[in-house]
Amino acid sequence: MTNGEDTPDAGDTTGDADSGDAASAGTAIRRDRFSGGPARGFMSSLAADERIFAADLQVDRAHVVMLAEQGIVDDEDAGSILAALDDVEAAGHGELPDAEDVHEAIETAVIQRVGPEGGRMHTARSRNDEVATCIRYRLRADLFEALETVVGAREQLLDAAAEHTETVMPGFTHLQYAQPVTVAHWILSYEGPLARDTERLLSAFDTTNQSPLGAAAFAGTPFDVDRERTADLLGFDGTVANSMDATSSRDFLVETTSALTTLATTLSGLAEDLVVYSGRDYLEISDDYASTSSIMPQKKNPDTLEIVRATAGEAQGALQRLLTTLKGLPRSYNIDLQEATPPAWTAVDTVPPALEVVTGALTTAEWHEDVLAAEAAAGFSTATGVADRLAMAGVPFRTAHEVVATVAEDLEPGQDAPDIDALEAAAEEILGEPLTAYVDRETLTATLSPVESVAMRDSAGGPAPDAVAVQIEGARERLSAGEAAVADRREAVTGALDDLETEVTEYV
Ligand code: ARG
Repeated sequence: MTNGEDTPDAGDTTGDADSGDAASAGTAIRRDRFSGGPARGFMSSLAADERIFAADLQVDRAHVVMLAEQGIVDDEDAGSILAALDDVEAAGHGELPDAEDVHEAIETAVIQRVGPEGGRMHTARSRNDEVATCIRYRLRADLFEALETVVGAREQLLDAAAEHTETVMPGFTHLQYAQPVTVAHWILSYEGPLARDTERLLSAFDTTNQSPLGAAAFAGTPFDVDRERTADLLGFDGTVANSMDATSSRDFLVETTSALTTLATTLSGLAEDLVVYSGRDYLEISDDYASTSSIMPQKKNPDTLEIVRATAGEAQGALQRLLTTLKGLPRSYNIDLQEATPPAWTAVDTVPPALEVVTGALTTAEWHEDVLAAEAAAGFSTATGVADRLAMAGVPFRTAHEVVATVAEDLEPGQDAPDIDALEAAAEEILGEPLTAYVDRETLTATLSPVESVAMRDSAGGPAPDAVAVQIEGARERLSAGEAAVADRREAVTGALDDLETEVTEYV
């Protein structure tokens, strides 16, 4: 424990704070209170902080440049500190001195190189604003990756859909044959949520990309810091205005983890569809995405898809852990917040790869069009089309529904469509008129075909090939807008970080 400032000294105080060796260096930057107790390892986030090692160095650089510009630290000290930071970076996270966390370790490493003047780096800040800035900085990079993965997947799905606008397949409700659709229509039903995931992740990005730096512990600082300047240097869009909000809030982690969990939940359904379809021989998964059985020689299992399905559980668990950790925390900083970050890393590490896998499995699968065509007619799936035809000819829909339901009830097991004679008999009985008064035989026969059933359903958003072509076009436009939104943000961040590098070279 190095920071239990209200508790009596619980640690081994024999260590020499000034000795400067790596083992005791974690305590070198502060008086050696509370530093060596049995809970030291329990408290430490140093290993987990590897993920924000590079971010912390950048945050340090921006802070030091700002301190120099504001005349809070002189240029010479700034130069020595910035040079030391480069050296620490080159040595790598593994060479950091022992410390409670990466912030303390880097500061110690700087002081080891620069001497006491290195301690000016921590002027006008706290680890509280520092860590919040590091997490946002790093998460931003992960969000770029996630966004680019989602956008890439959407493009692949749209290409696959364009190839299958005429490939008729069964559509299900309650996993029962319901109405014929096309493979393209089914694929688009997943591209839609992914488009919304893009919006959600962009929103999470914008929430995340605000700088807490300069908030200090939570109550601001008497130094004349320029928070806008450090925000600009780090490529943030602005600052988190209130200093207590800046250090205490982790809703940006919730927003990101929640967006990714929503995506994972969609993916689990897509994976499940593919597992079902491969089990029914509608498609064959490419060998790259399948496994064999160690005992059953004939098996080809869609294992990758089942892992995708399970990823939703991991993401949902992470979101739950995060929310539960945050619930009921008082203002302002509490170190529970340290434990709030790993679930967000879990989400960014597991969900985008699952998306890549399921997209790969889908776009490389071989669709068995003959099986799909036969199955598309299964279970009298054109029944709704027949009722629609009668209704279009003037029969009240509820009455038309009853006519068709009457024949549907009498189908033999395995019989996919009724005889026209049976339909005529039911119509005579219920409508009191011959069926031909409404629909001629030829039209009726056509209506019993899944291809015709799909073609009829040309309402906006429906499965008819023309309606699907309109959807693909709209989706492509939406995709281009999403790609541009991601690229603009990436460019802004990259430009800012290039400027930071240039600023740093002014001092070293
Ligand atoms: N490592 C901590 C975190 O990740 C930052 C340390 C601030 N600690 C403190 N006791 N104020 O949140």
